[in-house]
Amino acid sequence: MVRDLRGSRMLITGASSGIGRSLAQQAARAGARVALTARSADKLDELVAQLTAEGADVTAIPADLTSDAERRRLLEVVTGRFDGLDVLVNNAGVASAGHFADGTEAVLRQVMEVNFFAPAELMRLALPALMRGRCPAVLNVASMCGRRGMPAWTEYSASKFALCGLTESLRAEFARFDVDVLLVVPGLTSSDLSRHMLRSEARMKIDFSRGMKVDDAARSILDALRRNRSETVLGSDARWMLLANRFFPRWVDYLIARRVRRLYAS
Ligand SMILES: NC(=O)c1ccc[n+]([C@@H]2O[C@H](COP(=O)([O-])OP(=O)(O)OC[C@H]3O[C@@H](n4cnc5c(N)ncnc54)[C@H](OP(=O)(O)O)[C@@H]3O)[C@@H](O)[C@H]2O)c1
Repeated sequence: MVRDLRGSRMLITGASSGIGRSLAQQAARAGARVALTARSADKLDELVAQLTAEGADVTAIPADLTSDAERRRLLEVVTGRFDGLDVLVNNAGVASAGHFADGTEAVLRQVMEVNFFAPAELMRLALPALMRGRCPAVLNVASMCGRRGMPAWTEYSASKFALCGLTESLRAEFARFDVDVLLVVPGLTSSDLSRHMLRSEARMKIDFSRGMKVDDAARSILDALRRNRSETVLGSDARWMLLANRFFPRWVDYLIARRVRRLYAS
């Protein structure tokens, strides 16, 4: 199956920066009608102005996705504006780095709110519109940390594992409505995620600039949507890590634990 994005009515979350911003640009340029959401209204307006000048049909609906009322308003405005919805891309996300024992319940809950509860409830709210959509799909952007837990990325890993589990379960449930449920598992990407972290206390610093280019990640995500791929792992780091973890999980555990011991030896 090949999904034609021309005229497709899409909602993309986390469209104010990074992967989501590039996804919105590429989807709009491919002829999709795109609703952009995130909290930063100014950044969304700037992107809408740019894409509208290019002739795209785009609209900005600022919202904090951790609020139930704002999620409901968002879906009402999008479906009203486009007279329906074909594709929901749950891309918004937030990270936190540092050991779990030194963290707080507030940060854990906020990470779960953005990365798990928001996409979960958006899927539930969007389902009635998607059921009436053309070639409808939900695409969830998780992370390689959602398939292999990482030390110091504990809260983030837990939230992305939850998202992966929900996505897999819903794939079969939504099959009865002919709504496809797709998962993308990116590796390191050179976005602004590290600058938006809720806490940044990990001893092992990760150089995000070494990661995949944001535009390449977005292109691959749209390709997965077009080809209706159930699960797509992006980036050689993610592919190698998940391959090693599948066949030698205890070896990966050992190497990671050894690294943590060394980092904390002093
Ligand atoms: N960068 C990586 O290495 C990497 C690797 C694997 C997976 N990912 C995943 O890729 C997705 C995109 O991240 P990115 O790398 O592009 O990071 P980013 O540049 O920090 O983008 C995150 C987006 O999420 C939005 N967001 C955060 N909290 C929100 C809230 N409460 N309500 C509404 N929107 C909210 C942000 O917008 P506002 O701040 O304007 O609200 C922003 O648009 C995330 O799900 C991330 O977990 C990233």
